Amino acid sequence: MYRNHTCGELSKTHIDEKVTLAGWVQKSRDKGFMIWIDLRDRYGITQLIFDEERSPKELMEKAKILGREFVIQVTGTVIERVSKNPNIPTGDIEILVDKLTVLNDALTPPFTIEDNTDGGDELRMKYRYLDIRRNPIRENLIFRHKVTMSVRNYLSELKFVEIETPYLIKSTPEGARDFIVPSRMNVGQFYALPQSPQTFKQLLMIGGIDKYFQIVRCFRDEDLRADRQPEFTQIDCEMAFVEQEDILNTFEGLIHHLLKEIRGIEVGKFPRMTYDEAMRRYGTDKPDIRFGMEFGELNEVTQHKDFNIFNKAELIVGIAVPGGNSYSRKEIDKLIDWVKRPQVGALGMVYVRCNEDGGYKSSVDKFYDQEDLTKWARITQAKAGDLICILSGDTIKVRPQLSTLRMELGERLGLRKPDEFAPLWVVDFPLLEWNEETQQYHAKHHPFTSPKPDQIEMLATNPGNVKANAYDMVLNGNEIGGGSIRIHDKDTQALMFDYLGFTPKEAEEQFGFLMKAFQYGAPPHGGIAFGLDRLVAILGGQETIRDFIAFPKNNSGRDVMIDAPSTIDSAQLDELHIKLNI
Ligand code: AMO
Repeated sequence: MYRNHTCGELSKTHIDEKVTLAGWVQKSRDKGFMIWIDLRDRYGITQLIFDEERSPKELMEKAKILGREFVIQVTGTVIERVSKNPNIPTGDIEILVDKLTVLNDALTPPFTIEDNTDGGDELRMKYRYLDIRRNPIRENLIFRHKVTMSVRNYLSELKFVEIETPYLIKSTPEGARDFIVPSRMNVGQFYALPQSPQTFKQLLMIGGIDKYFQIVRCFRDEDLRADRQPEFTQIDCEMAFVEQEDILNTFEGLIHHLLKEIRGIEVGKFPRMTYDEAMRRYGTDKPDIRFGMEFGELNEVTQHKDFNIFNKAELIVGIAVPGGNSYSRKEIDKLIDWVKRPQVGALGMVYVRCNEDGGYKSSVDKFYDQEDLTKWARITQAKAGDLICILSGDTIKVRPQLSTLRMELGERLGLRKPDEFAPLWVVDFPLLEWNEETQQYHAKHHPFTSPKPDQIEMLATNPGNVKANAYDMVLNGNEIGGGSIRIHDKDTQALMFDYLGFTPKEAEEQFGFLMKAFQYGAPPHGGIAFGLDRLVAILGGQETIRDFIAFPKNNSGRDVMIDAPSTIDSAQLDELHIKLNI
């Protein structure tokens, strides 16, 4: 037996017991006549002691050569420590070792295996197995396991069945590019890795499984960010014989359950906001409603003077920054530079200082008087001591710009508290979205989403205004899940493909299997998928999903540890009949 205790569990109650432990050498302190070693495993750290008076000479010699991260096994007696460490659970005791076996030696690790390590991101990714030895990463992975178990239990209790769907499939349009896999046995043909199991879960509904879920890997070849990985995990769900209301209630229940079980937090019924309202009040379809700073639209109270920039603008919109009047001129200039960076893209920013005496001082005093500024303050709900920041231009650009500023200031002002949770549903998404590049409408969610039944006719006249039975769940400014009620009849689906610019032939080639299935008794159905990585990170009070994935990719989509993607040899290419053209 390698061990009969772990390194995290011994305390005063074990004094005088003979124990065997195994683990890694965290650090060693050699005073010559006495050597202390911190032995670490998944469960904690236990101090080992070797001393000249009580330990045989050979044992002392052996202990002296132990380096960091050596794997060792020790047997010894639990004794009370002379100087105790109240910071760790095993801090009252140490092990007087009488047997030491080196199970494996170790190279010196390229960074310290400590909570605050000296290793940079890339280095830690390259040696991810060492990073996983650190408490923060290990704890994140265990936390993820807990969330996953809790999800499985909850859904299973509700009679959802977890069913696996294939990974080698045909393209599923979720808006990103596919990763493709060549088929050796079908020369010149390719599988696509699923961007989601969307069509399969719909086929399962037609197959009579009325409650499906799957914790499933999805693959999307898209630009990466802190909350996006090329392979990520969904909690993918679908139900038959349901309306939107049934889905919202069921999955609000899931998130309630997780917040309670994982964080011990009870939240009330989730607010619901239409997409249009979210865009108007927060400039984004994933508003962080933990804090105010809501948008105030100022067109009516700004376009009556000679200020051309405002007069030309489609939208003039501001937010009140609490306490912002305390910013110096230099700080405000910095803020203006910040919104003008290409990442935000604003052309400039007008500001109004709300003085403590109730007066206002703006960067456009030449054009606007106190009466005007009082109106602006009322609309943006600014109070004495605040700073009103105003952007103007095309609605489609200004809203995301001001939203980015709002989030940044929310962060700087400490209003985005990681231990506060403010979920909401955003509903009534537009069915279609205009794509400037292709000059065509694309499905905003995916092409299987049903339009609001009373708006189908509007598809012919005013497609951009048609709303869908589609919803997102938003938590603390992140889209953690999205879904819709689906189209379940062939004719409507064919009509949708037509509006999306598919010829009947293309629709048949790509989705003929689904349209055919619809003709064999497809029940009304709908569903949702949550991003598990995001959900776990946010429940853990963070937003970078990489820290909650055992072996993540870097921002260029590379696994720097195994060095993938990589070239393959020419024999393998020949077998696949692939000629590279690079
Ligand atoms: P959607 O595309 O909205 O819906 O994806 C569902 C959720 O998955 C998460 N997500 C991601 N997480 C990490 N990295 C990524 N690259 C990434 N992309 C998406 C988000 C998102 O809300 N089939 C539909 C669901 C349905 O209609 O039922 C779908 O995949 O949290």
